[in-house]
Amino acid sequence: MGIPLLKGTEVERLRLAGRAAAETLACVAARLAPGITTADIDAWVREDTARRGGKPSQLGYHGFPAAVCTSRNQVVCHGIPRADERLAAGDIINVDVTTNLDGYHGDTSATFFIGEVSAEARHVVEVARRCREAGMAVVRHGARLGDIGAAIDELARAEGCSVVREFGGHGIGRSMHGPPHVPHVGKRGTGITLRSGMVLTIEPMVNLGRPEVRVLPDGWTVVTEDGSLSAQFEHTVLVTREGCEVLTGSVRGGSFGRQGCSGLEAPPVGTVAGR
Ligand code: CO
Repeated sequence: MGIPLLKGTEVERLRLAGRAAAETLACVAARLAPGITTADIDAWVREDTARRGGKPSQLGYHGFPAAVCTSRNQVVCHGIPRADERLAAGDIINVDVTTNLDGYHGDTSATFFIGEVSAEARHVVEVARRCREAGMAVVRHGARLGDIGAAIDELARAEGCSVVREFGGHGIGRSMHGPPHVPHVGKRGTGITLRSGMVLTIEPMVNLGRPEVRVLPDGWTVVTEDGSLSAQFEHTVLVTREGCEVLTGSVRGGSFGRQGCSGLEAPPVGTVAGR
């Protein structure tokens, strides 16, 4: 079936790549504020990734023109940073960072509040974050792939939201995208059996309205068909005997401060930026 099982030094290299991606995301988060543009985010990701000795995996991937995906409000994923897209108070924005460090990839994203946001925006962002946690919570050696999607979809539905079906998580390691495809909807007890050493992303896209999406004419930007808000959180995880190890998670735990790019803080979760 061709899903690599990583161990030893490979796992160590993936930890470094995951940590670099998480730190770059944290660095961006500290600078988000009303008035900045999504092109600013792209520039920060390029600078910070280079500073850590990495390369942005997304740049040039199937022709993607930027170093990071920036997906604002009704944009579900794969938003392209633009100099004329300026963040305003009330926006939510997902920033999706993938770092190639010495040939290994780490992939992580979070959705942020820009200033004060509506209760609806807060809800969909919170639900998306909880959906990622719910998906990660069922991962362990011997679990089935469908267990992940079932856990995510049930939570989203219970909270009155919907889960995007067209895009999922993926295997990751020496390439940014590999098998298996990780659906965020599914049925328990179905799909491949997870094994220790597999590395996956879990990255549910959760819509406040209906699940349908469409791609804009730029060929990349995915938006909700009904124009409702969409949020997403992503981690890269290593399947273990007992559960999973989050490779793009907290470096030393605790809450995320605003003091800048120490490179040691946890990546933010639904951080309120730019008050
Ligand atoms: Co991904």
